Amino acid sequence: MTRVRRAAHFVPGGIEKMLSKALTLPADTLILDLEDAVLPENKDATREVVAGWLRDVDFGRQERVVRMNPLDTEWGRRDLERTMVDPPDGYLVPKVNSAADVAEVDRIVSAAEREHGHPEGQVKLLLLGTETPQGLLSIGELPQHPRVDALSWGAEDLSAGIGAKRNRDDAGHYLPVFAHARTMTLVSACAAGVQPLDTVYIDFNNPDGLRREALESAAMGYTGKITIHPSQIEIVNEAFTPSPEEVEESRELLEAYEQSRAEGRGAFTFRGQMVDVPHITRARRILEQAQHSDTS
Ligand code: COA
Ligand code: MG
Repeated sequence: MTRVRRAAHFVPGGIEKMLSKALTLPADTLILDLEDAVLPENKDATREVVAGWLRDVDFGRQERVVRMNPLDTEWGRRDLERTMVDPPDGYLVPKVNSAADVAEVDRIVSAAEREHGHPEGQVKLLLLGTETPQGLLSIGELPQHPRVDALSWGAEDLSAGIGAKRNRDDAGHYLPVFAHARTMTLVSACAAGVQPLDTVYIDFNNPDGLRREALESAAMGYTGKITIHPSQIEIVNEAFTPSPEEVEESRELLEAYEQSRAEGRGAFTFRGQMVDVPHITRARRILEQAQHSDTS
């Protein structure tokens, strides 16, 4: 795995005030939006502003991702061609239906890399894989393309795509089809070796609900989540950063493993529970995550 994104934070394209603020926030990634947060009549002007940001603004350690419009709109291709002059670190590709959609984005980005003399393959793709019913059906293939670096999903657009009236029950849990999309996104990302990135939590005045959801994501195996409001970033960072207790426990477990290995045993007892290979893998992953999180 390459880059670790705990909070990948949306900044509506063109809003200077929000960009200035976002640059001071502890988000690992900023997603500069050209798609749904931008009105059709503002698309062309916003694209110019965002291209200017990519040329002029110092983002420091923050990853720069542009959310393009889909290629089957009148804006998608131009979004890529214009912003590839001074390229971002990656594109968030919305409403992906099939592996062919990913290949088409890759073709345009590759041609622009050659045209402008940028290193080939450096610009990554982050996919929104379940925004359409077709995308959900193809989810396993989508992240297989070598340019893909993360897979996320979208409950709101999927709701619209399948005609769902809501995506959560009264207690705030996802209804089955959305829970399925969330699970399949995680599994598909892991099968392809890319980052699983959980979707937005739109109720931004509900920090407790966000914390619960982010902790659940982290427990499932997601390693980051998309944010839309500044108040969400620290909650998300915390949920995806292993706690000192988890780090300590992982260290102790690996020590106990070394000891049992020296005694010639693969499975052993740790804190009253049976431990073998998958637990060792998990402990190593936690330590690795803790190390990556040490950036802010
Ligand atoms: N990034 C950076 N700054 C943001 C921000 C964001 N995503 N969202 C809000 N802010 C700023 C506001 O400008 C405001 O700044 P100020 O204190 O200097 O005036 C401050 O944070 C507090 O904002 P608040 O008044 O609580 O929110 P709002 O009513 O202005 O905006 C939203 C609420 C949801 C419209 C706004 O957060 C937003 O546009 N989020 C991103 C939406 C998006 O990109 N959607 C597409 C992906 S789903
Ligand atoms: Mg959308």
